[in-house]
Amino acid sequence: MLNLVQHVEVPIPTPKNDEVLIKLEATSLNPFDLNIQKGKPRPFLPKKFPFIPASDVAGEVVDLGPGVKNFKAGDKVVALLSVANGGGLAEYAVAKESMTVARPPEVSAAEGAGLPIAGLTAHMALTQSAGIKLDRSGERANILVTAASGGVGQYAVQLAKLANANITATCGARNIELVKRLGADEVLDYKTPDGAALKSPSGKKYDAVIHCATGIPWSTFEPNLSANGKVVDLTPGPRAMLTCAIKKLTLSKKQLLPLLLVPNSESKSILSYLVNLVKEGKLTTVIDSKHPLSKAEDAWAKSISGHATGKIIVEP
Ligand SMILES: NC(=O)c1ccc[n+]([C@@H]2O[C@H](COP(=O)([O-])OP(=O)(O)OC[C@H]3O[C@@H](n4cnc5c(N)ncnc54)[C@H](OP(=O)(O)O)[C@@H]3O)[C@@H](O)[C@H]2O)c1
Repeated sequence: MLNLVQHVEVPIPTPKNDEVLIKLEATSLNPFDLNIQKGKPRPFLPKKFPFIPASDVAGEVVDLGPGVKNFKAGDKVVALLSVANGGGLAEYAVAKESMTVARPPEVSAAEGAGLPIAGLTAHMALTQSAGIKLDRSGERANILVTAASGGVGQYAVQLAKLANANITATCGARNIELVKRLGADEVLDYKTPDGAALKSPSGKKYDAVIHCATGIPWSTFEPNLSANGKVVDLTPGPRAMLTCAIKKLTLSKKQLLPLLLVPNSESKSILSYLVNLVKEGKLTTVIDSKHPLSKAEDAWAKSISGHATGKIIVEP
């Protein structure tokens, strides 16, 4: 894939109704940003050119549109920008008040900027799709997190630990110790035969798989699942969608559940919850690398490589 990021001068955006203007301090990249460049969501996105990529940001509120009630100039915030409009790889961006949360001084801009898409996705996969109770009120579950060293996987492991789950995780050999520190009980190198087979070293069967890697067929998951085990697939292709339909039609207890993060009215409170976990030291954003905005193409190249450990951060 070509690195086609270009630097252009554009006016500072004006906040409209219920929007805040943020002077950005940090932005994090997600694989979806690359998908827009690859043209995957065409003809719907991008809506216009130049398209400024990235939607996960942290910074300081500098101006308010009409109707903004809960922020003032000078407030430090984390925001999820409109995925359709992007705007994060810039010095200033506008965010909906409904997708903006306060950032306490204990949470750095980079830690905060890592959270929106990756943190919300990890939270949604565990709680809504897999039915895990983060307050530990449910039964102790056996969870597998694939690609636990990635942006989503790192948060999924830490949130599953908060839920007191037994966690098996996969990652590359270089990240095994990191993923253990994040809370995984067992870690498999995905390049070994046991890792490729997703086999728990202690013989556990998984109640839920938070599947952040790609290209693993159902036949690999199936023998490792408990009787009611679910695979939550973050990147479902046509085969996964077919498997999902077959499992539903045949009333299979083992299921494949595709997940697509669509920010909704609950997203703000969940993002705020995640920011507070970071403040309390219960959640960490693993940072792969930080790049100045003037070198955004280096951050983009790292994202294209698919080998980030945690989040890639760009700082204006
Ligand atoms: N459905 C949604 O709404 C949604 C939302 C967010 C993300 N996603 C998708 O979820 C996936 C994960 O996103 P992300 O941001 O976490 O990606 P990421 O940060 O780019 O993931 C990179 C990490 O994955 C590891 N990895 C790659 N292949 C692996 C494998 N087969 N087994 C174990 N580890 C592997 C890499 O380790 P090595 O460097 O050692 O290879 C690297 O540390 C992406 O496909 C993304 O598009 C979907």
